[in-house]
Amino acid sequence: MTETRQAVLAWGMVERALHGQGLGTRLTRARLALARTIPNIAVLRLATSQHTRGFYEDFGFIVSKVTPDGFASGLDRWDMTLRLT
Ligand SMILES: CC(C)(COP(=O)(O)OP(=O)(O)OC[C@H]1O[C@@H](n2cnc3c(N)ncnc32)[C@H](O)[C@@H]1OP(=O)(O)O)[C@@H](O)C(=O)NCCC(=O)NCCS
Repeated sequence: MTETRQAVLAWGMVERALHGQGLGTRLTRARLALARTIPNIAVLRLATSQHTRGFYEDFGFIVSKVTPDGFASGLDRWDMTLRLT
């Protein structure tokens, strides 16, 4: 069996007062570009909430699991993956 090497994105957050200015996009693009330089990384994973999953869907991330109240009451956990290869 071939092992699938994975990397995890964590804490991709922008200060609330600066939302909507393109910083999140630049940060995410930079992190995706960096991940692509790491040899043999095939899959990127992250966990976010129902409030931000749409942002990551726009980068091609696909939901793998939804855990209602997974982070806190009313804050669901969305596990998402992006294949790099
Ligand atoms: C998600 C986040 C990183 C986006 O950063 P940002 O700098 O505001 O995003 P950008 O300005 O680059 O927006 C780029 C696009 O994504 C969209 N977008 C931004 N936030 C979004 C969201 N929460 N859901 C869906 N789309 C979103 C924008 O509308 C924009 O679309 P457009 O290009 O069609 O206009 C930022 O909102 C954030 O840090 N949120 C808090 C996340 C958090 O608290 N997580 C806690 C742990 S779950």
